[in-house]
Amino acid sequence: MGKYQSFATRGGQITLGLQAAMIAAVSAKEAELRKLTESNEVFATLDKNQVSITARGLGEYRKIGHFSMEQLPGCCGIVVSYHSAIETQFRGLGIGKLFLEIREDAARRAGYTVILATVVHGNEAEVGLLKQAGWSVSPPLFVNKRTKNAIALYTKELK
Ligand SMILES: CC(C)(COP(=O)(O)OP(=O)(O)OC[C@H]1O[C@@H](n2cnc3c(N)ncnc32)[C@H](O)[C@@H]1OP(=O)(O)O)[C@@H](O)C(=O)NCCC(=O)NCCS
Repeated sequence: MGKYQSFATRGGQITLGLQAAMIAAVSAKEAELRKLTESNEVFATLDKNQVSITARGLGEYRKIGHFSMEQLPGCCGIVVSYHSAIETQFRGLGIGKLFLEIREDAARRAGYTVILATVVHGNEAEVGLLKQAGWSVSPPLFVNKRTKNAIALYTKELK
C-alpha cells in the first residue's frame, strides 16, 4: 500500500494525503461493498493513483472495479477523478454509486474543494450517476481533437 502521509491544516483539522484518503474511504464502505457483491472479504490495492477492488466469495477472487484520482496540476483545490469503472458482471447493482461516494469521500478527507471528471457524450450511465449525486456540467461540450469524442466536464463542490 505504500507509506501514508498526513498533515494538519491551519484549522487544526487533520487532512490525509490523497492516496491514504482513497484507502480510508474504501475501508469506510467495506460492509456495503461486501453486501452488494455478496462477498466474505473485499480487498483494495493501490498502485500509484489507482485503487482496484477485488471481492472474495464462493472461493473465488473477482475484480469489482477500479478508480483513479489525482490533484489537478497547479491547483490544490481541485482533484480529478478518472478511469472509474465497474466490471461488467457487477454493473447495475449500485456499486457505481458506491464508488462515486467513495471518490467524493476520499476527496473530502484529502481536503479538496472541488472534484472534476470528464465524461464522453452519450455515457448515460455515468451522466445519470453524476446528476443524481448533485454534480454539475460545465457547457459547452468540446470535441477532443485526438479521439474525436465529444467531452463534457462535470464538477461538484464538496461541502
Ligand atoms: C458508469 C458505471 C460506473 C455505472 O456503474 P453501475 O454499478 O452500473 O451503476 P449503479 O448500479 O450504481 O447505478 C447508479 C445510477 O447510475 C445510473 N445508471 C447506471 N446504469 C445506467 C444505465 N445503463 N443507463 C442510465 N443510467 C444508468 C442511474 O442513475 C443509477 O441510479 P438508479 O439505479 O437509481 O437509476 C458503469 O456503467 C461503468 O463502469 N461503465 C463503464 C466505464 C465508464 O463509463 N466509466 C465512467 C468514465 S467517465
